[in-house]
Amino acid sequence: MHRTIEPAIQYWGTPVVLVSTLGEDGRVNVAPMSSAFWLGWTCMLGLDASSLTVANLERERSCVLNLASAANADAVNALALTTGSTSVPLHKKLLGYRHEPDKLGAASLSTLPSVAVPVPRIAECEVHLEAVVEKIRPIARGDARMAIPACSVELRIVKVHVEESLLLAADKVDPARWTPLIMSFRRLFARGAEVGPSRLARGDEAAYAPWKAGLARRTAARVLGAVAEVRYGIAEDD
Ligand SMILES: Cc1cc2nc3c(=O)[nH]c(=O)nc-3n(C[C@H](O)[C@H](O)[C@H](O)COP(=O)(O)O)c2cc1C
Repeated sequence: MHRTIEPAIQYWGTPVVLVSTLGEDGRVNVAPMSSAFWLGWTCMLGLDASSLTVANLERERSCVLNLASAANADAVNALALTTGSTSVPLHKKLLGYRHEPDKLGAASLSTLPSVAVPVPRIAECEVHLEAVVEKIRPIARGDARMAIPACSVELRIVKVHVEESLLLAADKVDPARWTPLIMSFRRLFARGAEVGPSRLARGDEAAYAPWKAGLARRTAARVLGAVAEVRYGIAEDD
């Protein structure tokens, strides 16, 4: 039997990401977050608009999404309830947040240079997605239950780096070896065992990347995409 409930939070289990950004002074800021999902090479983040990360993204227009695994749980906890902002917003003060000027030092993290963006990567994470900002939008303005100024950040991924022991082949991640850190109702989990065969995974993964195919398939995919856009594409809803 199902019960109708009114939970305080809707944290149903999403991967933890350490977002690295550059401050005005060139200092690296790292913030844990988990309201993230991907569609193609686009990533959407849901963020508290008062965070230093959002100010840095608005100004610098790039970041690295350092995906946390279970091995990064201590770093995530060291960064929890901290902000790089010198003035801690009142709603964060009430939750016990404090200003932390040296996020890397506080979490014993080190950096690696990126390839396509000026923001460095976090060496201790196994996956790095270099990304540029496409659009930042306010969200949930009309929802009285949203207690913070919130925004969505649309990012375009421009470079992907993966610890090589996680690879099945060039350009192919082994999902059995990648263990994302999952935040569920504020607690941290590693994922469990594979439950069984996946029907979706039957076909070749390459079907999702027509841009890597030969000229004929690339052209066909472009035509199909253009037709689908005409038939199903939607206008901005505002
Ligand atoms: C596991 C975890 C998940 C979090 N998820 C989010 C999130 O999805 N969105 C968000 O705005 N803040 C999230 N936070 C809180 C941010 O870390 C917090 O806003 C922080 O102050 C941002 O740092 P900054 O102000 O230096 O950018 C999360 C924190 C932790 C520890």
